[in-house]
Amino acid sequence: VNIFKDIAHQQNKTVIIDYSSPNIGKELAFHHIRSTMIGHALSCIYQAAGYKVIRINHLGDWGTQFGKLIVMYLRAELPTDVESLAKLTVKELNLLYTQFSKAAQKKPEMEDEAREVFAKLEAGDEFYRSLWEAFKEATLKELRRIYKQLGVDFDYYTGESFFEDLIPPVIDELKAKNLLEVSQEREVVMLEDLDLPPCLIRKSDGSTLYATRDLAAAIYRQKEYAFDRCLYVVDQGQALHFKQVFAVLNKMGYAWSKNMVHIPFGLILHQNEDGKWEKGKTRTGSASLLRDVIAAAQEKILEQIQEKNPDLPDAEHVAMQIGVSALTFNDLKNRRLMDVKFDWDSALSFEGATGPYLQNAHVRLCSIQRRAGYQVELSQVDWFHLTDDYSMELVRIIDRKSTRISQAVEHDEPALLAQYALEIAEAAHRFVHHNRVLGSAEEKSRLFLVQCTQIVLKDVLTMLGVYPIEAM
Ligand code: ARG
Repeated sequence: VNIFKDIAHQQNKTVIIDYSSPNIGKELAFHHIRSTMIGHALSCIYQAAGYKVIRINHLGDWGTQFGKLIVMYLRAELPTDVESLAKLTVKELNLLYTQFSKAAQKKPEMEDEAREVFAKLEAGDEFYRSLWEAFKEATLKELRRIYKQLGVDFDYYTGESFFEDLIPPVIDELKAKNLLEVSQEREVVMLEDLDLPPCLIRKSDGSTLYATRDLAAAIYRQKEYAFDRCLYVVDQGQALHFKQVFAVLNKMGYAWSKNMVHIPFGLILHQNEDGKWEKGKTRTGSASLLRDVIAAAQEKILEQIQEKNPDLPDAEHVAMQIGVSALTFNDLKNRRLMDVKFDWDSALSFEGATGPYLQNAHVRLCSIQRRAGYQVELSQVDWFHLTDDYSMELVRIIDRKSTRISQAVEHDEPALLAQYALEIAEAAHRFVHHNRVLGSAEEKSRLFLVQCTQIVLKDVLTMLGVYPIEAM
């Protein structure tokens, strides 16, 4: 059994994974869990397959929306001294966005004002810059809190603003390669030969765009990390954007552009009053925030714990870990391109294909080991004690770990590993149901199998962002 070693056949390859990448000044919506957890799972899966993984959060921290935020902030006459700015919350910023949209409907000139303010910010205006930095800090504080709950981490938080200085050389290069054309006063790269609309590089006022910054980011990433693959875990709605960016890089002569892959995924759907599945909105009509969904999941699980196991130590923390895992697994269990039908009862259930079900299997395996109170060595195993169907099934399943990891890498599909986690858990439940471990004649051999299964399950759950808790 080769389960303690991860396959390492890709030892010299580097993969960059760009995931989560939310916009500054906005709260994380529930749907952000998709990019965040698919990206997190992929980064763990690639790592297990032996890749060097670079995890990047490409924050949306640049663009005209910051002009809007600043305009609204100043119109609302909010305090701009250092101390007040340090106390700013993302909730307040989110509100400013909504207020701006409302106000600008009545006074369309505010849109121009916002563009001017952003142009000044781009030009280096110090006051605007200090506001922008405060907005970013306030958002990051909350982002880090949520990432911690989700157990997610990044190597770099290089947002779009990071690439500002790297853009002029990219534009020069496009010009030198005769790729830049003027169309309706904007500079674009034509892609009609590929049946794609032109990729916008620079607006008439000189400001750059999302795509421009992605071009600069890709070139920077290749120079800096010499990646073998670069994955963009971003919703399906941006498919055209990535096609255009990859096509422009290809026209620039960068053969490595073929190693860049958009990893799209489907929507999260909620059921409305008539039972129809709809995008993005909850029953009350407002888009739900990720922090509220996590808090609600924690609360619902806590109620169950208080009912079934009131003496559990650290119950609130465990409830958070179960709640988060339930949300995450609900998201990862189906192929990523499928829409996720979100329903509280089925996500939080301890039965069926759920996070809590997997955690329960792990808890059971841990509790047998705790009660045994000792560890078994390989040399103590009598293999003839493991020839019954339930043991054999379990051995066969845990032996498939590296194959399943390779398949998940090949298809960039965490769901393949999620299915594997379910197979392990089901076989483990069957095994302990039919084969008494403690006090049986086969105790040592069976206990060894329990140990191995628990290690594999723990590893797989961790990769999937499901907390491998030991008691519940
Ligand atoms: N900030 C963008 C959004 O919220 C996603 C960025 C994805 N990454 C990238 N390199 N474009 O839509």
